Amino acid sequence: MTNLNKGSLVCVGTGMRMGGQLTPIARSYIESFDVVVAAIPHIFTRKWVMDVSKEYICLNSYYEDMKIDGKNRRDTYRRMADTILSEMRSGKRVCAAFYGHPGIFACISHMAIADARAEGYDAHMEPGISALDCLVADLGIDPGSYGMQSMESTQFMIYQRMIDPTTLLVLWQPGIAGELALKVLETNEEYLQVLVNKLALTYPLDHEVILYEAATDPLEKTRIDKIRLGDLPQAKLRQITTLVIPPAKTLERDQAIIDQINAITASLTKLRAAA
Ligand SMILES: C[S@@+](CC[C@H](N)C(=O)[O-])C[C@H]1O[C@@H](n2cnc3c(N)ncnc32)[C@H](O)[C@@H]1O
Repeated sequence: MTNLNKGSLVCVGTGMRMGGQLTPIARSYIESFDVVVAAIPHIFTRKWVMDVSKEYICLNSYYEDMKIDGKNRRDTYRRMADTILSEMRSGKRVCAAFYGHPGIFACISHMAIADARAEGYDAHMEPGISALDCLVADLGIDPGSYGMQSMESTQFMIYQRMIDPTTLLVLWQPGIAGELALKVLETNEEYLQVLVNKLALTYPLDHEVILYEAATDPLEKTRIDKIRLGDLPQAKLRQITTLVIPPAKTLERDQAIIDQINAITASLTKLRAAA
């Protein structure tokens, strides 16, 4: 069912770095849609979006909700999505803007798009440049070389996960690792020790890991701190830190599969020669 109300929704990303990482299509939605609803932490990016948009609704203060008794991050995200949806339901073309990629570790846009579509509105997402894209460029790591696993730090801690030490492991949000109450945006040495203990089942404690923080404007320096895994609990982690764990083991060939493929190739070659 298509909703005849003319409201619509597009979710865009502003990239990680001020100036240059905004895609032309994201820019055109920001400039031309009736209202931009956004949670953009970087002050200069926020200021630019405010200046070029027709109307701007800032969601940043909604994070204060977490301090209210009985409320946590999930309530904040739901309220952000509801604000986006109520602007759309009032008939506006809404551009919801988030830093990085609007759909990577950004549940608000996924919630808003799913709800908008369920109500019959046009809603879609435009990709943006994420922290992972910057990481690949800044660290010179090709996820194609050894494969890559990528997950949220607390999720890794509290669920049974299969970690493959021959691939690159990217752990997002280590700066709030173990914060199960979803009330504050920080972690502590004790929670990080639990994370290290779990990682130590797969990696040696002296394995070199990287604390990565992409520069968010041209004046900032990208953080690439290489430390021992065992030293992680004492390291300074921020909300924007990503933990990068390079492979600890080399890839081993699966000879049985290689033999199967070679046998198939040999029989195909024989059939072709006989044809
Ligand atoms: C809620 S997620 C947002 C990710 C964002 N949507 C993106 O596309 O990259 C927040 C996490 O992204 C990563 N992150 C955010 N800013 C970063 C930066 N400047 N450098 C490295 N990682 C960053 C960190 O792991 C952080 O905890």
